[in-house]
Amino acid sequence: MPSQRTIEVMATAADLFHAAAEEFIRAARTAIGAQGRFTVALSGGSTPKALYSLLASSYASFAWNRVFLFFGDERHVPPTDPESNYRMVQESLLSKIAIPPENVFRVSAENPDAAAAAADYEAQLRKFFELKPNEFPRFDLVLLGMGPDGHTASLFPDSAALEEQSRLVVANWVEKFKTHRITFTFPVLNRAAEIVFLASGPDKAEMIHQVLEGENSAPLPSQRVQPSDGKLLWMLDEAAAAKLKR
Ligand code: 6PG
Repeated sequence: MPSQRTIEVMATAADLFHAAAEEFIRAARTAIGAQGRFTVALSGGSTPKALYSLLASSYASFAWNRVFLFFGDERHVPPTDPESNYRMVQESLLSKIAIPPENVFRVSAENPDAAAAAADYEAQLRKFFELKPNEFPRFDLVLLGMGPDGHTASLFPDSAALEEQSRLVVANWVEKFKTHRITFTFPVLNRAAEIVFLASGPDKAEMIHQVLEGENSAPLPSQRVQPSDGKLLWMLDEAAAAKLKR
């Protein structure tokens, strides 16, 4: 079990996203104060959209020129596609803040060759973090969600990417969706200084209970997120935490 796992439960979804925005900005201020920059990997799906909108509306004047945004995973679709995580972030955050375009690192998921898109994104990470071979990046913050099957980023149960230990980014075939997803691997996630899981709503309650309290024979992907030298924070609303023993 990671050295520092914290679970915070907020009364409502609105309270959850306010607390998550404050945590984002707190982590950003700390990193910028210490290193002059803040590196963050954003999560996709539907849950974080309200967080991104709140960051845009409540922190528009933040020092976004010191913030470097990456994507923890991406769907294998062009950036204009309704399924695109980039599009969701562009519409809810990027289009509303003064962040230099060179500070935003998008997955070239329009590339029909998903493995090539993953390799390209890995190259972008290696260049930005000035990594030597066999080195991994250390993000200041990684935002994650959790799916009803316990997946996180695009690390789905029974998928090949779960066992990847050397690459930073892979194209992961997801059988149930019959498509590839481009995703960070566990070594990248688990080297972060801070990881924040966001989960909201009653649909997540059973899996939240399994992931945080369950004794599963094989750990679920979300249970394998254990920062080796970092903070792990689960931010939930009451509905998502409803089945937790408290
Ligand atoms: C994605 C995400 C994925 C997401 C979960 C939860 O690209 O879909 O990165 O890991 O966080 O599927 O999705 P919801 O927030 O939509 O429930």
